Amino acid sequence: MVVLVTGAAGFVGSHFARAAHDAGLAVVALDDLSTNASWPDLPASIERVLGDVGDRFLIEHWIAKRQIDAIVHFAGRIRVEESVREPGLYFEQNLSRTVSLLDAASAVRGDLSFVLSSSAAVYGQPEQSPIIELSSTRPINPYGASKLAAEVVLEAYARSRGVRWAALRYFNAAGAHPDGSLRERHDPETHLIPLAIDAALGRRPPLVVYGDDYATHDGTCVRDYVHVMDLADAHLAALRTLSRGESVGALNLGSECGTTVCEVLAEVARAAGAPVPHDVGPRRDGDPTKLVASAANAAKILGWRPTRNLRTIVEDALRARQG
Ligand code: UFG
Repeated sequence: MVVLVTGAAGFVGSHFARAAHDAGLAVVALDDLSTNASWPDLPASIERVLGDVGDRFLIEHWIAKRQIDAIVHFAGRIRVEESVREPGLYFEQNLSRTVSLLDAASAVRGDLSFVLSSSAAVYGQPEQSPIIELSSTRPINPYGASKLAAEVVLEAYARSRGVRWAALRYFNAAGAHPDGSLRERHDPETHLIPLAIDAALGRRPPLVVYGDDYATHDGTCVRDYVHVMDLADAHLAALRTLSRGESVGALNLGSECGTTVCEVLAEVARAAGAPVPHDVGPRRDGDPTKLVASAANAAKILGWRPTRNLRTIVEDALRARQG
């Protein structure tokens, strides 16, 4: 199978590209290096293309040239607060460019398989926990709305052009490659685990905990952290299912374990052998109290279950950040 991986220089994209290569797939890695300044440390046999997913001539060229069977589409913007300030950027990059990519690729390749990197942000403020895929999808920011709209587009192309698709709704992607070669490289970094690690290592000022007055057992928000290597495995399982001609649709990818911010800080302190300096600040706008996945459908449809717990997530992230 030949797979085009868009956003292959990014966090989840790079881990998937490496996992797909290690699983014996031929990988073409596409990135415009707009949010990562350089390519990560990927195997030399992965072909790298510098370009834009919205460039339909480029996409048509590579689909035909490498006889691409499937696209795994990670390229896009991921910062919630940026999406609130610049909604146009998010609808342009996460929605319009996905339409362009899908339209160009499915025009050249009739029986295309397409896996979209989606997000738990499609649910907004969830009404139930754990969240199932049939929970109401009412995104509360343009980031979540752009991902949900891209899922709708996929469904339309499935009907009109027979595209087989999966939209994988990640909860809190975290961790790093266990050999330390790949890691989260967001700039600026806004995610809890890398920020907590850097604070424990004395590389940045004390972390600000965004609110300790939530209705949870220690007052801080609950999230579902899932290891990036487990996410990579889920994408491989989705490709296998699609290649059998089966449809997948939208699926949650999470660990089904809820962890508070304080519990994450304790785990980072244990792994780093040093406390995480922190202060408690006000709540961050738009943070739901609790986001925990039901991943029962991913288990049923893909045969996927995450195998790495929070301890492994933090230890792998720490090793990669120290390397
Ligand atoms: N947090 C802090 N201090 C920080 C950073 C984060 O207290 O400096 C807290 C947040 O308030 C939240 C938790 O740590 O309760 C996790 O925050 P992250 O920023 O790491 O992740 P989010 O849960 O906000 O976001 C993730 C993904 C988004 C996705 C969202 C909704 O990164 O892409 O889940 O599913 F949109």
